[in-house]
Amino acid sequence: MFCKTLLASALAGLAVAAPAPIAQRQEASSFSAIAVHSTSAVHLQSINANGGKFWVGAEKPTSTYCPLSTGCPAGNITTFAAGASTGTLSLSVEVPGGQQVYVDPSGALSFTVPHSAFMPAGSQTGPFVYTAAASNQTVGTLTFGNGTQGFFACPDDAVSAWQVYVFTAGSNSTSSCIGIGLSTVNEPAIAAWEYA
Ligand SMILES: *[C@@H]1O[C@H](CO)[C@@H](O)[C@H](O)[C@H]1NC(C)=O
Ligand SMILES: *[C@@H]1O[C@H](CO)[C@@H](O)[C@H](O)[C@H]1NC(C)=O
Ligand SMILES: *[C@@H]1O[C@H](CO)[C@@H](O)[C@H](O)[C@H]1NC(C)=O
Ligand SMILES: *[C@@H]1O[C@H](CO)[C@@H](O)[C@H](O)[C@H]1NC(C)=O
Repeated sequence: MFCKTLLASALAGLAVAAPAPIAQRQEASSFSAIAVHSTSAVHLQSINANGGKFWVGAEKPTSTYCPLSTGCPAGNITTFAAGASTGTLSLSVEVPGGQQVYVDPSGALSFTVPHSAFMPAGSQTGPFVYTAAASNQTVGTLTFGNGTQGFFACPDDAVSAWQVYVFTAGSNSTSSCIGIGLSTVNEPAIAAWEYA
């Protein structure tokens, strides 16, 4: 009886001492992205999630949604995180299930709506390659595919903004488009409940 009590209290002590479960969230390491093409209109402008696609600069700002009356992140910048599997990319969000970044069949960099994994047939989920900023540097990089691929931006005259694309078999870079590199900046926290 004595031993049993001791054991019980020892176990109880263990239970109390056990750390709270640590959520294994890929989003723990968030980063934002900026376009790099010196002398161009998009140079060093932010990459913004809006309407399922990505845009460069303030003309088409980050669009987010918060279903809670209180407690959502500010939702005014677009943050990414490495995806759940190698070579994939996600938005860094609170919404359960997350939001995946992909390339649609026309080459447009895109993201899934919350609570759905839907992507059009022919979409590509990678390979995205994220190299975080080293501790002694301020910027990292985000690339796509092999050396002949990568990102470009095209002016969308209807919304006076530059849209982000990836060079793929289906993409369509016209003369008004420009190649861009993406630099990344570490962000201290998830920036939005979800992107819309
Ligand atoms: C986003 O909102 C936060 C909190 O209101 C503010 O401190 C920050 O400057 C804003 N950032 C941008 C890029 O607008
Ligand atoms: C940053 O750190 C890496 C690894 O320690 C080192 O190889 C590199 O030279 C450093 N770069 C600068 C600019 O200090
Ligand atoms: C790189 O990607 C391009 C565009 O999808 C493709 O045409 C090319 O064959 C790829 N090269 C290699 C070595 O995989
Ligand atoms: C490629 O771009 C041209 C010019 O903007 C457009 O007319 C055409 O529909 C595009 N094709 C595809 C497959 O997106």
